Amino acid sequence: MDVNVIVCTDPIRCLKRFSHGRNGEQLLEELQQVVGQHGLQDQVQVTPCRCIFGCTYGPRIDVARRWSGEKVLYGTVQGQASISRRGTVRFSEIPEDLLGLVRQNLPSNVDFRFITVDNVRTGLRREGAR
Ligand code: FES
Repeated sequence: MDVNVIVCTDPIRCLKRFSHGRNGEQLLEELQQVVGQHGLQDQVQVTPCRCIFGCTYGPRIDVARRWSGEKVLYGTVQGQASISRRGTVRFSEIPEDLLGLVRQNLPSNVDFRFITVDNVRTGLRREGAR
């Protein structure tokens, strides 16, 4: 697993906040669809979670890039913000294109031209595997 995506579906706030018309639950569903449609289930895990702080800028998504040790915080703003418990953090704005979000967080050696359902079945997912 290269990337863990957690999407806040906490009814307290993130179900009432919207990014490009989608609340936390809708973002979760779309991200899971994108991962499924592109055969990325072995590389990207998308799971719901409760409050991860920064609700003011929600809906909130945290992405852990396990391959690099980085964590990327997503919300409805771009740039620095101060949030409870976590202090000053840097947000990336949730893009309308959620495949773009997934793509931004995968290792650069993943070549999307070759990620298809058929290629995943045959194990042809990384450039180096050709
Ligand atoms: S309720 Fe979603 S981050 Fe707090």
